[in-house]
Amino acid sequence: MNEPSIDVHKLNKHFGKHHVVKDFSLTVQKGDIYGFLGPNGSGKTTSIRMMCGLITPDSGSGHCLNMDIFTQRDTIKKRIGYMTQHFSMWGSLTIRENLLFIARLYTLENARQKVEQTLSDLGLSSRQHQLAKELSGGWKQRMALAACMLHQPSLLFLDEPTAGVDPKARREFWQTLHQLSNDGISILVSTHYMDEAERCHRIAYLSYGQLLANGTTQEIIAAQNLTTLQIRGQQLSRLEGRLRQYPCVEQTVIFGNALHVTGRDPAGLRAALSATVPEGYEVRQVETTLEDAFTLLMKTHDE
Ligand SMILES: Nc1ncnc2c1ncn2[C@@H]1O[C@H](COP(=O)(O)OP(=O)(O)OP(=O)(O)O)[C@@H](O)[C@H]1O
Ligand SMILES: [Mg+2]
Repeated sequence: MNEPSIDVHKLNKHFGKHHVVKDFSLTVQKGDIYGFLGPNGSGKTTSIRMMCGLITPDSGSGHCLNMDIFTQRDTIKKRIGYMTQHFSMWGSLTIRENLLFIARLYTLENARQKVEQTLSDLGLSSRQHQLAKELSGGWKQRMALAACMLHQPSLLFLDEPTAGVDPKARREFWQTLHQLSNDGISILVSTHYMDEAERCHRIAYLSYGQLLANGTTQEIIAAQNLTTLQIRGQQLSRLEGRLRQYPCVEQTVIFGNALHVTGRDPAGLRAALSATVPEGYEVRQVETTLEDAFTLLMKTHDE
């Protein structure tokens, strides 16, 4: 039987009096791309650092690549790839020189050959002689990914790898992640982008250190049991203000000429719309999005 790549139970971490990760449990199967979401400061980076053996949890238990996250931390670090949230590189070195430097820093055997292979695997060969400081955001991320894959890890922790990268480069980066996943590499990737969350096999959502949702996009949306109605027409902002007065209207968002109204009580929503939406406006039910589900999850958690 295939053992999961990550299997942790009830991890806790305090920084001083601040309880930043609370009873965090997660299982990531081999080859899965697991999205890690949550607002700033919710504890994503801290959880990642506990899972990959960089910091010790205060309590809990768990394994990463079948190694104990308490007692085998040094071995775990050698076997996983970790792309940190604010990675850095040497701007006046080329891509190739950066990778060679890192390979030697970690005293990898057959450094040259591994750099060659990684450049080719990640589509960097044609740019290998370009200076790192001259690269666009997308190529920089790709180089950072290459740097954490030189030792051919079977599990990657990527902490906001595409922050600030344009949509085309993000799409290409995600294509690469899916190729790696096809090759059996497991990936835990944190992101604030909903389109990226939807490209994951499964998603974990953290808020104030607590895991609020965990599952596929469809499971997470279904668990919230929401109805979303779309209203098309003019002057939606005024209508939005009126609809917000109704307790059953839990969330409203305007997208251009469309207003989305979300709540858990479909009959109540329809009644609210009948009483407020003027003649000539088009109303229809639309699918609730992952973003709607997360926003409401947060709201419920805050109350
Ligand atoms: N070494 C540390 N010492 C003290 N507090 C810390 C330390 N590292 C993180 N924290 C605090 O722990 C909380 C969780 O931080 P963490 O970096 O894990 O969040 P995050 O979800 O990764 O946020 P972001 O989306 O901004 O990257 C924050 O309040 C942060 O200030
Ligand atoms: Mg972080």
